[in-house]
Amino acid sequence: MAFVPTMGALHEGHISLIVEAKGPNTLVIASIFVNPTQFNNPSDLEHYPRMEEKDIALLEKAGCDIAFLPSISEMYPEAHKGHWDYGLLSSSLEGKFRPGHFDGVLTIVKRLFEAVSPDRAFFGEKDFQQLAHIKRLAKEEFPSIEVIGCPTVRESDGLAMSSRNLRLSAEERKIAAIISAILFDMKEKRADFTPSELESYGRSQFELASGIELEYLEIVDQKTFAPVADWADSVEPIILVAAYVGSVRLIDNLML
Ligand code: PAF
Repeated sequence: MAFVPTMGALHEGHISLIVEAKGPNTLVIASIFVNPTQFNNPSDLEHYPRMEEKDIALLEKAGCDIAFLPSISEMYPEAHKGHWDYGLLSSSLEGKFRPGHFDGVLTIVKRLFEAVSPDRAFFGEKDFQQLAHIKRLAKEEFPSIEVIGCPTVRESDGLAMSSRNLRLSAEERKIAAIISAILFDMKEKRADFTPSELESYGRSQFELASGIELEYLEIVDQKTFAPVADWADSVEPIILVAAYVGSVRLIDNLML
């Protein structure tokens, strides 16, 4: 059985996970649950888009067999949140800027894995650090579950699909495309720069862009999350970025 956990407000990125999960003779179950323990900003939780009926119709159309919409009291009979420390993976980037976020994600993913017992579970690479955490959780606590990462799906102007994009005004939506444009530009320029020069170049491009507030931009190794000082140090470097457009916090990444 294949499992696609989501927080709803489904877009083509989620649908690509359902399609990927849906092999011949594979039962696909998708969950929709806006997990309160992974939000470290109460206003972000309050404004998280919710559209269950539309989501269920989209799931059906994509070939999903079962939609699982647990209640808060089912998933959190007691408000306990677990704690995982995977070193640099947990303390850097999203871990640093969103304290407790990954504990919330892993708490709910663990409970969902226990409830659903899938053979395979599918997650998007847009949340790259989340995916790395879930792979580690599965390796250590659910070795029979295969965690599969699927490529980020982008809008035609390059913006990574995200449920949070729905909260952007028309003007902000245009500005948001600059995030991926900077990432793709950095990738093209990789050969001209050292990793730290390329980071500085990327950050300077964000400074030039009006309407975007960069939170972090770093080039790290995909496996260890260690900052890449020299290209020779990492066979799999990745740029990870978080930025605010208005009040909406967006993340993206690009493998170099
Ligand atoms: O990526 C998401 O939508 C959520 O973080 C997840 C994995 C469903 C856990 O709530």
